[in-house]
Amino acid sequence: MKHYLRFSDLDAGEYGYLFERAALIKRKFKAYEKHHALIDRTLAMIFEKASTRTRVSFEAGMYQMGGSVVHLTTGDSQMGRSEPIEDTAKVISRMVDLVLIRTYEQTKIELFAEHSRVPVINGLTNEFHPCQILADIFTYIEHRGSIAGKTVAWVGDGNNMANTWLQASEILGFTVHLSTPGGYEVDQSVAGIRSSESYKVFKHPLQACVGADLVTTDVWTSMGYEAENEARKKAFANWRVDAEMMRLAKPNALFMHCLPAHRGEEVDANVIDGPQSVVWDEAENRMHAQKALMEYLLLGKITDTTDILAVVP
Ligand code: CP
Ligand code: NVA
Repeated sequence: MKHYLRFSDLDAGEYGYLFERAALIKRKFKAYEKHHALIDRTLAMIFEKASTRTRVSFEAGMYQMGGSVVHLTTGDSQMGRSEPIEDTAKVISRMVDLVLIRTYEQTKIELFAEHSRVPVINGLTNEFHPCQILADIFTYIEHRGSIAGKTVAWVGDGNNMANTWLQASEILGFTVHLSTPGGYEVDQSVAGIRSSESYKVFKHPLQACVGADLVTTDVWTSMGYEAENEARKKAFANWRVDAEMMRLAKPNALFMHCLPAHRGEEVDANVIDGPQSVVWDEAENRMHAQKALMEYLLLGKITDTTDILAVVP
């Protein structure tokens, strides 16, 4: 049994499979063809933080594959009344086939997974957001081909997204140019990467964008850090992706943002709504990529389209 708690839980070969599978699943979706690979399977989705994309993409995706979902939040379950994570994991995983969790500390999801009988997927923690980077790289490949050897400029907070980009760079062989304000740097040990070979740190955000194939950023204040909002607004004032940064990147560079975005804070409207931005494809691709992920965690690699018919009654 495999969990998907960190980007590094899968290897390059598995990602190659998932990107191809996501492309096939997306083609079928666009052609109104059924892809009922998960009939009678149930996904439990536990949200301790707000969500629009993660919830809709997993919920719609699971229904489209013939399965069903159970949606829980801290407030409407016993988790909000201090039932131990271990007990919750044991109970929920006796009733469903797959669990998605969005929570605070990575240690919480790891503890849940330790006591779960079924695969657990990380739908965002303070430290990581692997499903988002899965979709982002799938989106990059759709637009520009392989990401291997390319340069991704990260402008902004050394947060869950930055950590996950770093994990992905080690596995898929690209370079990350990191520029974060002082005090908000990425911590290599938190990011869980083996070496510093796949990234370079730049003091100035403009320098990080020079020659980049992809420029990406995220909110200045992530969920759970709201008390730091005012201090962050001051510290991040120069870490706004603007037209000048995009001009310094390669002429065919893409812009990505996991969303939700704050125009005029971490990105100017003319960038996120401009011709290099692929943020809407990126958001849609959450669903296609995660359908491939859920199918893989439950059924393993499907090498032939006839195999998929075999699992459909
Ligand atoms: N990008 C992302 O995870 O969005 P939500 O917070 O809306 O799920
Ligand atoms: N870094 C952001 C991502 C939101 C999808 C957060 O954790 O709030």
